Amino acid sequence: MLRRNIRAWSWRGIALGVACATPLAAAAAQRDAQGHAWWRHAVFYEVYPRSFGDANNDGLGDLSGITQHLDYLRDLGVDAIWITPCYPSPQVDFGYDVSDYENIAPEYGSLADFDRLQAEAKKRGIRIIFDFVVNHTSDKHPWFLESQASRTNAKRDWYVWRDGKGPTQPPNNWTSIFGGSAWQYDRATQQYYYHAFYPEQPDLNWRNPAVETAMLDVTRWWYTRGVSGFRLDAVNTLFEDPGLRDNPTVPGRNAYGDQNQVRKYDDNLPENHRVLRELRKVTDAHDAVLIGETWTDDVQQLKAYYGANHDEVHMPMDLMFTGLGRVPGGHQRLDAPTFRRHVAAMEASGEWPVYVVSNHDIPRVATRFADGRHDDAIAKAIGAFYLTLRGTPVMYYGEELGMQNNDPQRKEDVRDPIGIKGWPTEKGRDGERTPMQWTAAPDAGFNTGAKPWLPVPPSARTHNAQTEGQDSSSVLSLYKAVLKLRHENPAVREGGYVPLNEGDPNVMSYLRRYRDAAVLVVINMSGEDRTATFDLSAQGLRGAAGRPIIQSAASGDLSSVKLGPYGIFIADVKTAP
Ligand code: GLC
Ligand code: CA
Repeated sequence: MLRRNIRAWSWRGIALGVACATPLAAAAAQRDAQGHAWWRHAVFYEVYPRSFGDANNDGLGDLSGITQHLDYLRDLGVDAIWITPCYPSPQVDFGYDVSDYENIAPEYGSLADFDRLQAEAKKRGIRIIFDFVVNHTSDKHPWFLESQASRTNAKRDWYVWRDGKGPTQPPNNWTSIFGGSAWQYDRATQQYYYHAFYPEQPDLNWRNPAVETAMLDVTRWWYTRGVSGFRLDAVNTLFEDPGLRDNPTVPGRNAYGDQNQVRKYDDNLPENHRVLRELRKVTDAHDAVLIGETWTDDVQQLKAYYGANHDEVHMPMDLMFTGLGRVPGGHQRLDAPTFRRHVAAMEASGEWPVYVVSNHDIPRVATRFADGRHDDAIAKAIGAFYLTLRGTPVMYYGEELGMQNNDPQRKEDVRDPIGIKGWPTEKGRDGERTPMQWTAAPDAGFNTGAKPWLPVPPSARTHNAQTEGQDSSSVLSLYKAVLKLRHENPAVREGGYVPLNEGDPNVMSYLRRYRDAAVLVVINMSGEDRTATFDLSAQGLRGAAGRPIIQSAASGDLSSVKLGPYGIFIADVKTAP
């Protein structure tokens, strides 16, 4: 059921503000005791604004709906929320087609609502990260409307316009990530414009310095208004080969019927890195952070996004992590050796990892790994695992509830255009974007008015924040406990990663070790009962005593742990005096 393609782009087919008295912009860089910037130990949480909370009951989430739920986020242990695009937009790609970068979409509220959200979040120690759609604008953005007006318009060169190869023939064979040719013909000016995504998302021409200036100014504008950083959308597609060489083709067709191709000339060009360095300079001047939507094939490619001199993206997301353990048919399986190998490769890279298990473009993690028998236990095991690794995690709303996909059953119900185009192979991304499940009430307490824009699944009756909040064995309670540990325990926050029992095919075990403190994490990645035994003397921890902190279907001590299917055992290790 996973919908992936070849190559790097593999996600489917292949505060100033009135209320902010001290703008963060002016604040001195905030560092922890170890000299790390604020984001190093923050927990990030992705909010899809259309689906989080609907304050005005019109069926669509909004900024005030986020404000209403800030206490929940604080209690969960969230330090920063990344809000996917909430700028004015025709909503062809649900906000990733921006028609005004310096405003809020009316259906989501106003700049005043943003200021309120920002101020209320700040009171709770939560920062706001915005989503910066750097690669393209909406075809309704005034820049594009001008660009399209005539071949001689001053903004013509803000986008990528080219003559066709011949009548009715696009400039080359490049295909859009969302299907079909990446070139759209404009009848009036008789040229094609390039779009890596939908035709309604024309690519900006980043070779034009005026584009760069305008876009850097957008980031300054929001930093001054109080955002603490940006998640950079689609950073691998900023540049295209100036010679427009055809991409090599490979056998097979994708869900849209296009011949598969290796994205050699339209993806991951070296020029991307120069732009990232410019964005970084502005970001660092505001003590903010850049998170990258960095789809890569391997750790070396990911490493490049940090910058050779650590002068590019602070937090390039490890999206490879979302694809680990895939089995034929597309499903995923918790596979200890695979996860162990990947974590080891990230550790060896010398970079600060940014693990991610789900987002608004891929099916929910609880669905991808579900076995139908231990779904909640699996959801807990995944949370306990990636949230206790070294690095900064980025969560996705509802993940902490074990929320599952609610995919459309009929083509006529699909809202995401790629799901209409690719049906039934590609059902689109609606399933992972359904309303946040707050309560057991109708429509999961998302609102009390109009039907939510996407349907709530029956499982919301059991999997919701209120019900799970009252159950100490819920996925939510496990997430809360682990996030608390992350914030409070120096070994989990700061410590190194020490793999244990590396030959064990089923149980993933490691220490997080900081000075003389350590935490032992043991996770059964199989559906059978398992026992793991330890000899910590090799770690200089002979005679150490353990105090279990988190146990889920597990019991034991530092020498031997018994685990039920997907059981979790986390213990504080006290070294003998
Ligand atoms: C990114 C976004 C995705 C969007 C695409 C085009 O991949 O995460 O949702 O459709 O960019 O902007
Ligand atoms: Ca609303």
